[in-house]
Amino acid sequence: MTSSAAQQDLAEPHLRQVLAGVGLDVEYVRAEGNTLHRLDENGRSVPVLDMMGGFGSLILGHHHPRIVARAKELLDARVPVHAQFSRHPYANEVAAVLNDIVHRELGTTEPYHAIFANSGAEAVEAAVKHAEFDRVQKVSALEAEIVAHLERTWEAVRGGTARVPGDVLAALEVDAPADPLAGFDRAAAEVQARNAAELARPPLFLTPEGSFHGKLVGSVQLTHNESFRVPFRSLAAQSRFVPLDDPGAIVKIAERERRHLLDLTVTGDRVVLTERPLPVFCAFVLEPIQGEGGIHPLTAEFVREARRVCDALGCPLVADEIQSGMGRSGAFFAGSLIGLRPDYVTLAKSLGGGIAKTAVTLIRASRYRPEFELLHSSTFAKDGFSTQLALTVLQLLEADDGAVYRRAAERGARLRAALEAVRTEYPEIVREVRGTGLMLGLEFHDQSAATSAEIRELATAGFLGYAVAGYLLREHRVRIFPTGSAVNTLRLEPSVDLTDAEIDQVAEGFRGVCRVLHAQDGRRLVGA
Ligand code: F0G
Repeated sequence: MTSSAAQQDLAEPHLRQVLAGVGLDVEYVRAEGNTLHRLDENGRSVPVLDMMGGFGSLILGHHHPRIVARAKELLDARVPVHAQFSRHPYANEVAAVLNDIVHRELGTTEPYHAIFANSGAEAVEAAVKHAEFDRVQKVSALEAEIVAHLERTWEAVRGGTARVPGDVLAALEVDAPADPLAGFDRAAAEVQARNAAELARPPLFLTPEGSFHGKLVGSVQLTHNESFRVPFRSLAAQSRFVPLDDPGAIVKIAERERRHLLDLTVTGDRVVLTERPLPVFCAFVLEPIQGEGGIHPLTAEFVREARRVCDALGCPLVADEIQSGMGRSGAFFAGSLIGLRPDYVTLAKSLGGGIAKTAVTLIRASRYRPEFELLHSSTFAKDGFSTQLALTVLQLLEADDGAVYRRAAERGARLRAALEAVRTEYPEIVREVRGTGLMLGLEFHDQSAATSAEIRELATAGFLGYAVAGYLLREHRVRIFPTGSAVNTLRLEPSVDLTDAEIDQVAEGFRGVCRVLHAQDGRRLVGA
């Protein structure tokens, strides 16, 4: 049935127009390995080399035969997809395999509990909610202690064994009355008012500049790009962003945001006022290799300092491995390459093997709040189909003593060398090649002062990377994209089965781009 409305574009028509503007609004009809097939004007299938890899969700490629076979098996066997509130042995097996990997790579023997989700942003939000639940319990315990102290202090003052000294009243900026009981009442009222004001303030997140952690209501506040984040800032708690090249800024931000609750206790015959540190930071969330921000690996020094400050604050350190994890870096966790020791880890993208949509948040047992399981849930999370496919994915990744990780490192090095060769040939066009394993970025120099008006306008509008993508698709049958936050950087995240011929095709494509930009041939770039 073709509805008349189907003739009209109703599903994100604006996005389609934007893609059409640079020749990227093509339809793919078949996918296999690193290849997507599109139909040309004559209805013939044209293979396109897919270097985008589903935003990094295809470490094993499109329709890996073992994953497809497993999916068919599960459906044929009528394995329950939805049986919420029952035992989920497969989810448990996924968690067990992930624990083996955590223990091997992250230098801990502690168990990590698993909370499943359906998408990356959802896994981040589960992490953030859990961290906030934990913080709120700590704040409540502190509040209860302060209330108990206040009662004991009141009894001491009423019984005449202690009095509020002038310096305490002065510190609280209240006048000193003659009557000691009135002095206590004023001090207590002021302490309670100030504490209430502190407790009403929302928590903060710490995250590096350039971060991307999703676009839902909470996670978008952990995403640095202002255009994604700022319009929605009233909806959720805010982040403090740390410059990547200045790990020392972490402790400065922590100092600047320090808050406390006031506590009245008795020492000898005097009422004493103390400041009790309030846990302000809900979580420090970071990507070991920033993806959407334009492929920026974090340094060992940065994560060491993050760990140190988190320990001092009692704040959980969350490694968002949604894009960098699952083997792409040459290890299962990219964080393991820089000595990251996280309290929470999030995974999504490749976990579903390119077929299922699944995600997970892992939480260190010593920080885990089991009651959270009764507070947080989702209809689709932890379903039978996706968790069993995730198990197959993990088995494929872990097979042959980590052959996939070694291959990601080897293929990545080879791809990188090919891109570096292009940069060496065109240093005035290609600014930098960076990344780790099969998570690479190629950044072009800014072209906003180009002599070609077309190129200049594209660059000024932030569309140069998309125009390059359109050119590569049209002329070299290579599918590649810049990221929303780094418009001059093209991101390469192919599967581990990348062949030498595919690497040559990509490098040749980039040479073509460099020739066009070198010649300032704007018309050729946009296919006019
Ligand atoms: N965290 C990281 C590190 C991500 O790269 C992404 C998504 C998310 C969280 C959110 O996951 O889309 O499943 O909700 N990154 C994509 C990108 C969109 O372009 O890199 P999601």
